[in-house]
Amino acid sequence: MTVSPADLDDLFSRRYSCRGFRPDPVPRPVIEQIVATARRVPSWCNAQPWQVAITSGAETDAFRQALVEETRTGSPAPDLPFPTGYSGIYRDRRRTCGLQLYEAVGVEKGDRAGSARQMMENFSLFGAPHCAILSSPAELGAYGALDCGGFVTAFALAAQAAGVATIPQAAVASYAPFLHRWFNIPEDRLVLCAISFGYADPDHPANGFRTGRADVDEIVDWRG
Ligand SMILES: Cc1cc2nc3c(=O)[nH]c(=O)nc-3n(C[C@H](O)[C@H](O)[C@H](O)COP(=O)(O)O)c2cc1C
Repeated sequence: MTVSPADLDDLFSRRYSCRGFRPDPVPRPVIEQIVATARRVPSWCNAQPWQVAITSGAETDAFRQALVEETRTGSPAPDLPFPTGYSGIYRDRRRTCGLQLYEAVGVEKGDRAGSARQMMENFSLFGAPHCAILSSPAELGAYGALDCGGFVTAFALAAQAAGVATIPQAAVASYAPFLHRWFNIPEDRLVLCAISFGYADPDHPANGFRTGRADVDEIVDWRG
């Protein structure tokens, strides 16, 4: 073991979802290393269902522009049905992190135009210089998506280890038909989410808060 549990916990706790990036590109070898590390996560039958289209430079800008345009002219149609609801503690946690974001960027409670503006930042990829679009074979269903969730987390942590900030974005996947067309993703694959990434702008107000987590005893039903 070369990584201590404390070092690993430190890496995990320094990662956060970045919503304001500097334009500087991430060198290709760094991106390759992030993917090389992320692919080490387990998957059922070792199917490794993840595939990513990764944009850089002018390709990111063209995609960003086209995606914003799509939100004006198209309708949301995710491949993977979005949650049907958030109730109880899930509703509370969702509300809390939303309020934290709005407070950080100065959107007052009830300011619908302000919150819509912040929501739209998703589609300009929060200014990130790179975006990864993640898909999984449709025939693997929920388990393919489960495996890919591990890949998303590993990607974010491997990036963090390299000083690269990330944000997973389901919002982008809501325009799945457009993403299939833009990236030539076959219809037998499900577009799951995007991961926008790059170097964080530490002064961006949207990066000025951190989300909380439930205590271990709230998570575990200890038996014995
Ligand atoms: C699968 C997935 C999809 C997400 N989609 C979005 C999104 O569309 N827009 C957004 O701003 N954040 C999105 N997030 C980020 C979450 O809001 C964030 O992970 C959560 O609030 C915890 O905060 P943290 O990542 O800073 O620790 C997503 C996260 C995951 C794992």
